[in-house]
Amino acid sequence: MTKSELPLPSGFPLSRGRRNRFRSGRRKMITENRLHPSNFIAPIFLMEGKNRREPIPSMPDQYRHTLDHAVRQAESMYNLGIQAVLLFVMVPEDRKDNKGTEALNENGLMQAAVSKIKAAVPELMIMTDVALDPYSSYGHDGIVRDGDILNDETVEVLARMAVSHARAGTDYVAPSDMMDGRIGMIRNALEGAGFHHTGILAYSAKYASGFYGPFRDALDSAPGFGDKKTYQMDPANVREAVREAQADEAEGADLVMIKPGLPYLDVVRAVRESVRVPVAVYNVSGEYAMIKAAAEKGWVDEETAMLESLIAFKRAGADLIATYWAEKAARLLHNADR
Ligand code: PBG
Repeated sequence: MTKSELPLPSGFPLSRGRRNRFRSGRRKMITENRLHPSNFIAPIFLMEGKNRREPIPSMPDQYRHTLDHAVRQAESMYNLGIQAVLLFVMVPEDRKDNKGTEALNENGLMQAAVSKIKAAVPELMIMTDVALDPYSSYGHDGIVRDGDILNDETVEVLARMAVSHARAGTDYVAPSDMMDGRIGMIRNALEGAGFHHTGILAYSAKYASGFYGPFRDALDSAPGFGDKKTYQMDPANVREAVREAQADEAEGADLVMIKPGLPYLDVVRAVRESVRVPVAVYNVSGEYAMIKAAAEKGWVDEETAMLESLIAFKRAGADLIATYWAEKAARLLHNADR
């Protein structure tokens, strides 16, 4: 049977989805979601020392930077249209303990980084990680007693840590610890100290994930015993994430975050529809490393997989995307044809 002899249903096919895909102008015109560098949050890893950077083996193209280096890195991010950096510090082993002493050091690396970067690039938003794990001799996000992670004692330290970051000039503190009640305590402490404009980016729904491995290499912060399941969430749960995000919003969070990203797009959508504050998502180290590794083998195309991951976050409803691809994606978006 030749084509013309096919018995076509009458009017077939009046509706053709391909019409809007015909030629790139049509596709651009009707695209539902767009990426923009101003929605990226760029993580920066800091280490002590001068004029050095160290590659992180499990995160190709990512480095630990000494402060002078990090300042230049922050400048170049800002020049690409990125509005925010998220700072993490690697703490020398001999300064770790079980109560976060170094975390409260007014002259610590984090505090110094905030004031130096702020001075160099005042318009760039600085977000600072608030959690004890990089400072903890146990590699946990809280104070440990008899094998348990103490909640209220930890929250007290986190609130003091947040105020010390605010004093250094951070724009947002970013508690990533998952202790109960910490957003309210931090908000209170900030208000009490007069830091009304210092925002809180709450890691509201942070899962006990297998995708943090490369990050723990980067900061040498893997838990020394057990796992983080008594505070980070069970990957099976979504209603619990909504509850956490709503609690954080009620306690005064300015931004709520879901983490990891790609395996939790349904959680991003659910949280987006149940809070009114902007929603961020963290495209974590393991998600980055998987694509990098596959790309190195020639099994996927890095740029295509990167952009597809990033647009998926937008489609799921995220306003902000914390991603190790921030710089690369921003460059690519600048060079993309208009
Ligand atoms: C810890 C923290 C982690 C990440 C950000 N903050 C790891 C963990 O909870 O063990 C992971 C980020 C990433 O994997 O990119 N407070």
